[in-house]
Amino acid sequence: MALVPMKQILEEAKKKGYGVGAYNVNNMEQIQAIMAAAQETQSPVIIQASRGALKYSNFTYLGYLMKAAVIENPTIPVAMHLDHGNSLDSAKKAIDLGFSSVMIDGSLKEDGKTPSDYEYNVNVTRSVVEYAHKYGVTVEAEIGRLGGIEDGVGSGSAHITDPKEAEKFVKDTGVDALAIAIGTSHGAYKFKGAKVLAFDVLEEVRKLIDIPIVLHGASSVPKELIDAVNKYGGKMPGAEGVPMEHLQKAIKLGVQKINVDTDGRLAMTATIRKVFTETPEKFDPRDYLGPARTALQGLIASKMKAFGTAGHAGDYAPLTLEDMKKLYNK
Ligand code: G3H
Ligand code: 13P
Ligand code: ZN
Repeated sequence: MALVPMKQILEEAKKKGYGVGAYNVNNMEQIQAIMAAAQETQSPVIIQASRGALKYSNFTYLGYLMKAAVIENPTIPVAMHLDHGNSLDSAKKAIDLGFSSVMIDGSLKEDGKTPSDYEYNVNVTRSVVEYAHKYGVTVEAEIGRLGGIEDGVGSGSAHITDPKEAEKFVKDTGVDALAIAIGTSHGAYKFKGAKVLAFDVLEEVRKLIDIPIVLHGASSVPKELIDAVNKYGGKMPGAEGVPMEHLQKAIKLGVQKINVDTDGRLAMTATIRKVFTETPEKFDPRDYLGPARTALQGLIASKMKAFGTAGHAGDYAPLTLEDMKKLYNK
């Protein structure tokens, strides 16, 4: 089995200067598509489940589907990661399910909406670090605040990361990876005007901290997918994402983990809408979920190539959570 701690996947990426996509999953077809793309491109991969995804699947279903991905792909380093955990309890539940990594998003309070303060963030993050490291599990935290609201996750107000605060936060908490806010946001409507990211802030943070850096809200919202959604009966005017060149620049400047959910949703929705429009007589879920899975595989494979992840699956011997326990407890 190649379930690996996310820390290892990201530190290997940091050493070699490439990015690793963390792709959100809710169901079997998404997981299969991402794993097929990882096989096709020989990429290490992070599959992540939000609290909403775990709730939707009653926890156990998604947990076992993610484990199936690991079992079916023994030569691919896979991290199972909790996206936007909101409390120690949410991290404990993910660790109980067998996740090798958890995010605690203390930039917001437990409701996932209300902006928190530094002290709150440090306290909740430390409690998760203390707990997770006992199990060899990686912890990602967030400092600064993303804009945008996605299904109730997010405050709607952005706060660009303060590099000095990021440096202090890493020392105060002992986290393994840090998500920073440089102007991206969740969802399909990221920019109204110019697509500006605070690359200067990223550069400054990279100088001050040594752990892997995470970029949330990193979907590109490709025009061809929006056009296809709209062509086949959807209504998504004004959708905009982060151009791939911006992501590649961010990777060059020191980002290792790139979170992608929206683009996967768009690829599946565009395909399903097309099947429904062009072949209205079809009603077998395999007739639309199958093509949606194939489209998602293509999208993820192209991201793996563009982020530089492709070809790195066999670079290193996977560490186990037992190995990590020893390293953390040294
Ligand atoms: O952080 C946002 C991710 O896209 C997860 O979204 O909470 O709707 O599953 P979700
Ligand atoms: P997108 O909405 O840009 O795909 O971001 C996803 C994300 O950050 C999940 O944590
Ligand atoms: Zn996010």
